[in-house]
Amino acid sequence: MYLKSLELINFRNYVRQIIEPCPYFNILIGQNAQGKTNLLESIYLACTGKSFRTSREREAINWSSEFSTIHCLLETETRELKIKLQLYPGQKKFLVNENTVHGYPLGWPGVVLFTPDDLLLIKGPPQERRRFLDYELGLFQPHYNHYLSRYNRVVSQRNNLLREIREKRTKNNTLQAWNEQLGRYGAKVLLFRLELLKKFSPQLRQLHLQLTTGRENLELRYHSSFKATNMCSEEELFNQYLEALNAVQEEEIARAQTLIGPHRDDLSFFLNGVDAKTYGSQGQQRTIILTLKIAQILQWKNDVNEYPVLLLDDVLQELDQIRRQALLNYVTGNVQVFLTSTSSENLKLGAGANKILYNVVSGKITKA
Ligand SMILES: Nc1ncnc2c1ncn2[C@@H]1O[C@H](COP(=O)(O)OP(=O)(O)OP(=O)(O)O)[C@@H](O)[C@H]1O
Ligand SMILES: [Mg+2]
Repeated sequence: MYLKSLELINFRNYVRQIIEPCPYFNILIGQNAQGKTNLLESIYLACTGKSFRTSREREAINWSSEFSTIHCLLETETRELKIKLQLYPGQKKFLVNENTVHGYPLGWPGVVLFTPDDLLLIKGPPQERRRFLDYELGLFQPHYNHYLSRYNRVVSQRNNLLREIREKRTKNNTLQAWNEQLGRYGAKVLLFRLELLKKFSPQLRQLHLQLTTGRENLELRYHSSFKATNMCSEEELFNQYLEALNAVQEEEIARAQTLIGPHRDDLSFFLNGVDAKTYGSQGQQRTIILTLKIAQILQWKNDVNEYPVLLLDDVLQELDQIRRQALLNYVTGNVQVFLTSTSSENLKLGAGANKILYNVVSGKITKA
């Protein structure tokens, strides 16, 4: 799929801008603070319904305006999609092919974003890695999202109950029914995650070996808060979870928190047997992210027969020649790419690469 045209009205520092990108490389060159990331943000927002920079989307409305509008025209393998997004303070509206839509289907249309902030996936808190597992690798798993949201709801209701028990407003024995529910949904979520890892691990390992010319063996390890393994059945996971909950019941009441379960689990990335979070260099960590992004692109192709649009914000120049070339090999000719840089030197896309170069200056884009 690719973006044929994009029009921004009062979005961030763009007052009015129209571009007609090419299906291959679209290179946005500009000094700092000119609007390069703003443009990527508008594409991401139109494609996913969310910003990657802020949860307060009103921040994206141009400071001298009351609302902002993004129009974009996407071409997929089978049809054209016209998306109109309007942002008002505290409200947003989407029209797809002239029809109002409420909420976006998860991850659709396809966009994969790679920014320097992605390093948080390795260095940051566990919720970053759980989010990756659940919403990126788990994107095309039917029913997964349903179980995940049910599970999260049970956790929060159970936490309320634990507080009531601590304050002696409810009896301990009411917990049992909630444990059952937590166990049922928790075992399902856990099983989904372990199976996702089983499914993706060989491919990620293979991709990573290619990116590092055979030097680094990548292994994803799941850390379950009750020591579950991928050899367990759903019933076994359920029983283990319940047993573990019984063992921490007093502490849970004292802290009014559900202390174990998939919402407390973590994932780690091991390179040649050592944890990349603790021992990996910046370049090694970045390469793991690159492996994950390429896997996501391939997943789109595999599961829905469409390549997603790829947004690369200031990352290409950070990769060494081998890794950059490996990324380009996967995308060139197949994937529409938007990439930003402060200079057109060092991009080294290859002589024949089909591309448009744009200059970005103070919220205005012109073809170079
Ligand atoms: N709602 C808004 N209205 C007007 N201008 C805004 C708004 N939000 C952000 N800006 C401005 O947009 C400018 C450009 O931001 P952007 O992040 O796109 O820069 P960039 O070209 O990616 O720069 P860098 O190379 O530093 O990453 C910022 O300086 C900011 O002041
Ligand atoms: Mg930027």
